[in-house]
Amino acid sequence: MSAEDGPRDWEARTYDRVSTPHRAWGGDVLGRLDLRGDETALDAGCGTGRVTAELLKLVPRGRVIGVDGSPSMIEQAGRVLPKTVELQVQDLTALVIDSPVDVIVSTATFHWIADHATLFHRLADALVAGGRLEAQCGGHGNIASVEAAIGRLRERAPWSDAFHGWVDDWNFAGPEETEERLRAAGFLDVRCWLEPRPVALDDAHVFLRTVVLGSYLARLPEEAHDDFVEAVREELDTGDGVTLDYVRLNMSATRGEAGARTPLRQPGEAIPESPEDLAARLRG
Ligand SMILES: C[S@@+](CC[C@H](N)C(=O)[O-])C[C@H]1O[C@@H](n2cnc3c(N)ncnc32)[C@H](O)[C@@H]1O
Repeated sequence: MSAEDGPRDWEARTYDRVSTPHRAWGGDVLGRLDLRGDETALDAGCGTGRVTAELLKLVPRGRVIGVDGSPSMIEQAGRVLPKTVELQVQDLTALVIDSPVDVIVSTATFHWIADHATLFHRLADALVAGGRLEAQCGGHGNIASVEAAIGRLRERAPWSDAFHGWVDDWNFAGPEETEERLRAAGFLDVRCWLEPRPVALDDAHVFLRTVVLGSYLARLPEEAHDDFVEAVREELDTGDGVTLDYVRLNMSATRGEAGARTPLRQPGEAIPESPEDLAARLRG
């Protein structure tokens, strides 16, 4: 599978149990919101819904939508979130919602998406004019130690063959390029910044397997998963356990006044005929 195939599925129950750093990061992002309480809010890449649950508390008179590309994540979110939260399996780079929202929140998701230009256009289209985007994902330098460890493993058998010619699908963008892409998508008051957030892991094997290495494991037969995860863990272990050098990229932006670039459609609704096609049809 590759990024072009769309989002992959995740091991949602284990993710929910071990991704404690993500909970704290999500709290920081929600802390940047200044809400009345009656807004419609979208959690873009909601995973198992723990940040979504906190978002729900901020809009007691509003509406919350959670979108994620992984069916297992949405299923797990559906088990724990109140039924009032609307959950949808969707690829964010082809996001379609019924009407624009006031706020989009996203945590630990955008670095899994290669095409940030398309992503930001879809998010701008999904926001009302003046709507807020508050997001955080892995940024430039994020888990560089893991990338270096995998680079060393890929120089030797059997991993050199297993990943031959494949470029991993992490997109750890920098703040300046991200600010430019957000402005190009129609956002104003754009501010992006990096934030080092190192994390010492309790159970490095399970964490690496579930949270970090999923797209590598998707390219390996099941019976090789443990060996690969353990090889990465050993490379990272300093003798005092594994600390991951997480670096988060924060994004704050406001949707500009310009009209939506892509018409919003109901899921399954036919794409409207273009003016050129209509003219050609009428000409016969
Ligand atoms: C590390 S999890 C973060 C989940 C949650 N926001 C949290 O903080 O716990 C990354 C999530 O991004 C989702 N994701 C990755 N690419 C996606 C895409 N193109 N469209 C929708 N969701 C995507 C994954 O399915 C996964 O649930």
